[in-house]
Amino acid sequence: MPRRYLARQFARPCGIVGRWLIAPWLDRINQGMNEIAFQLLALSPSDRVLEVGFGGGALLARILEQRPAEAIGIDISEEVIARGRARFGRQIAEGRARIMVGSVESLPLGDAAADAACSLNTIYFWKEPVQAMRELARVVRPGGTLVLGFEAPETLRAWPGHRFGFRVYDAPEVVALAQAAGFGNAEVHEGLEPRFGRIICVKCERL
Ligand SMILES: C[S@@+](CC[C@H](N)C(=O)[O-])C[C@H]1O[C@@H](n2cnc3c(N)ncnc32)[C@H](O)[C@@H]1O
Repeated sequence: MPRRYLARQFARPCGIVGRWLIAPWLDRINQGMNEIAFQLLALSPSDRVLEVGFGGGALLARILEQRPAEAIGIDISEEVIARGRARFGRQIAEGRARIMVGSVESLPLGDAAADAACSLNTIYFWKEPVQAMRELARVVRPGGTLVLGFEAPETLRAWPGHRFGFRVYDAPEVVALAQAAGFGNAEVHEGLEPRFGRIICVKCERL
């Protein structure tokens, strides 16, 4: 697959390829980051948990296994939404899950709607990072948790396709963005995605 096309699909899975190939593929290649983020969320049964940019839905599925009060998945891709609604149909019918179209810069949720939020491998595509972080701060209740996962600069740069629309971040920049929006107590966690390299998860608390 041409790199430019693949990069576009990663940013916003679309069409048959996005729904049936890219979304499940994302679930496979991002297992390590999903697991680190899941552990960092440290969910309790009363939590309302938000994932922005849930792609194939593997992390959302892991979250739902914990039976939180509610899991909310928001994504800009219609294909991802359709796939998510099919995959989590039972949990949606039971009122335990919600799948909504939306962008991180304008989340379709009320203030303090979530006890915890996460977003993995999406920050590269945020058009307005300051506004996106403000939105996350608005929807996470004070004392709530935010986990952001992304590939380390050298990991992302090792894939030539990153030139087509990916913005590279390192941990201090993400921490600074989060702090400016009202998060604190930042922790930086690192891991290795065996096929790619170093990955980073920033965990912080809504002050
Ligand atoms: C590279 S995929 C990552 C999917 C999943 N989080 C993972 O790590 O496997 C990026 C996902 O974020 C979504 N996305 C991109 N920009 C977004 C935005 N501004 N708001 C919400 N979702 C976004 C895409 O549609 C896609 O599903």
